[in-house]
Amino acid sequence: MHVFVTGASGFIGQAVVKELIGAGHQVTGLARSADAAQRLTRLGAKAHAGSLHEPDTLSSGAAGADGVIHLAFIHGPGDIPLGRRLGLILGGSPLGIVNRFGAAITTADRRAIDALASALEGSGRPLVTVFGTMGMAAGQTATEDAEPDPHSPGWMRSQTETAVKAWAERGVRATMVRLAPSVHGEGDHGLIPRLITAARKHKSSGYIGDGGNRWSAVHRFDAARLLRLALEDGQAGARYHGVAEEGVPFRRIAEVIAQRLNLPAVSLTPREAGRRFSWLAPFAAYDNPASSQLTRTQLGWQPTHPDLLADLNREAYFLNHMAA
Ligand SMILES: NC(=O)c1ccc[n+]([C@@H]2O[C@H](COP(=O)([O-])OP(=O)(O)OC[C@H]3O[C@@H](n4cnc5c(N)ncnc54)[C@H](OP(=O)(O)O)[C@@H]3O)[C@@H](O)[C@H]2O)c1
Repeated sequence: MHVFVTGASGFIGQAVVKELIGAGHQVTGLARSADAAQRLTRLGAKAHAGSLHEPDTLSSGAAGADGVIHLAFIHGPGDIPLGRRLGLILGGSPLGIVNRFGAAITTADRRAIDALASALEGSGRPLVTVFGTMGMAAGQTATEDAEPDPHSPGWMRSQTETAVKAWAERGVRATMVRLAPSVHGEGDHGLIPRLITAARKHKSSGYIGDGGNRWSAVHRFDAARLLRLALEDGQAGARYHGVAEEGVPFRRIAEVIAQRLNLPAVSLTPREAGRRFSWLAPFAAYDNPASSQLTRTQLGWQPTHPDLLADLNREAYFLNHMAA
């Protein structure tokens, strides 16, 4: 299969490119810079110049492919062109500005999915997109059948699920992979490195209350294999869970970070957590166990790579983020 991958130059994307090429597929990746294009060619993929802000480049990439994996996502203001960014910043309260950025990011994601899917409409070709289990209800084990919860910290991105459902009814084999909040492995620059940075800064590794809230986790290479299987065998409209471990207590994550940094692990009040973790605080406090039983049965997926605490216990995990 010739596969078009957005976000191919990123942490998960590069693992997906390797996985696809290893399984005999050809890959073209979206690249918004010469540097990203070089990363792709080094992995054996072709680069397709474009950006999430230029929907035509997404449609043209998808049109020439047998299937698409969509991973690119605007994670912050730095991924928004300067002119547009200034327009969002000018005027209004700080909360108003945050809300405008959130709306701009979700709108861009929806437009990107629509641009990719419109090139596949009626063809039965696959489109795999990602969402997070953090969009599911707290305190109960999220299954593939569960709907996103409006009170969850990941709700902002739930439009992705709406888009997948709509395109699955229009002749696109559109599927959704809900990833664990920690997709870990070498080169991780997601939520765990931010916890490490906060621990260094505050000279202690924090958890909230008794730290009994749980995060699910998956290694990036296991996530990459699941994304390939969803591409090859996923059913239109299906939701799969990229979850290898159902629920790692947040306190255990904080304790391993504390041990590696030779710092104490401390319990924080919600107010202290807000000051320490800023926008990450609602995620750090969230109880988000998730199961992948249906995914494993339906796609024959079996995670084989190290679990989160084993991975986090490696020296390299900390050396990588020494300067973070
Ligand atoms: N990592 C996790 O723990 C985790 C957990 C749950 C869900 N996810 C989701 O999984 C997906 C991949 O995550 P990741 O960790 O691999 O992210 P990442 O390393 O930050 O990679 C993001 C990718 O998106 C591209 N990108 C960003 N803005 C773009 C734009 N305006 N136009 C074109 N490309 C753009 C980046 O290109 P450059 O290389 O040029 O920067 C990069 O290839 C994301 O949707 C993320 O939200 C990740």
